[in-house]
Amino acid sequence: MIIPTETVYGLAGVFSDIGAITRIFKAKERPLFNPLIVHVADLSEVDELAAEVPALARELARRLWPGPLTLVLKKKPIVPDLITAGLDTVAIRMPNHPVALDVIRAAGLPLAAPSANLFGQLSPTRVEDIDVELWKRTDGVVDGGPCSVGVESTVIEVHSNHITLLRPGGISMERLRSFCDRIEIPEKETELAAQRRSPGRILHHYSPRTPLFFDDKAPDFAGKKVGWLLFKERNKNIPAAAPCEILSSSGNLDEAAHNLFAALKRLDSLGLDVIIAEKVPASGLGYAINDRLERASSSTLLP
Ligand code: TXA
Ligand code: MG
Repeated sequence: MIIPTETVYGLAGVFSDIGAITRIFKAKERPLFNPLIVHVADLSEVDELAAEVPALARELARRLWPGPLTLVLKKKPIVPDLITAGLDTVAIRMPNHPVALDVIRAAGLPLAAPSANLFGQLSPTRVEDIDVELWKRTDGVVDGGPCSVGVESTVIEVHSNHITLLRPGGISMERLRSFCDRIEIPEKETELAAQRRSPGRILHHYSPRTPLFFDDKAPDFAGKKVGWLLFKERNKNIPAAAPCEILSSSGNLDEAAHNLFAALKRLDSLGLDVIIAEKVPASGLGYAINDRLERASSSTLLP
């Protein structure tokens, strides 16, 4: 079943139901090496899934849940290997959406739920952006309105005295630093190993079908149909007739994150040859926005 969360729509199944979890991987065409996040509605469920919960993880959960933060913790045997892609850790979060929480409570068990997109494509933040093919492969879609945050949760590994950032997202680095000043960010060079640790770090991911380039790395697009993804405003170099999405005219990064995937989806539906995107300031949710744009960008495919 597809359910709303505050970040993006998720494709949910009871975590212990191997049949349901297998259907999730099949419906999304998701490779089995990419583990799923388990969603809980109550803090007590963490101890049922995780074998070790460092004090820092407990504090983060107490202070930031429900919310867009996913904690990667040592798993208990009760968590099927299919969910964790054979890893000895499980990713857990409590979503901050009343409908998601209601569905988890109604199921009576935690729900595994990846984003409700086909593998590698844009995550939907509005019901109308859910791929029809995926929609047809599921039992139903619950419409909870547009997702408030608009980028996926921040995924972190929590150790006794430091945090490793596996995926930037809806909880900013600044916010995390207020709990722990040692945040390690794996280098891009170690990406191959990191892909296995958190396949959200796959270099080319979260992509529109239309090739996307950053404005400073764009190839020659003379004679091409170009659309623009801009942060605050149109600049004078952009032809008046060119399609253009502004993420936040007031320059608010939360609003920009909220609009990001829907704006990309609209540009993607215009039959353009190329989308040119502008980076946003790298503070607050800007860090996660730039991360998604980098992964969407075809620049990563260039030699
Ligand atoms: O906001 C979100 O997190 C959304 C909503 C639906 O909750 N979910 C989401 O799920 O984005 P998905 O499957 O699209 O991304 C989950 C990310 C992937 O990057 C995956 O590799 C990582 O979490 N992950 C899951 N389990 C992990 C584990 N045991 N260790 C490391 N990374 C893990
Ligand atoms: Mg996803």
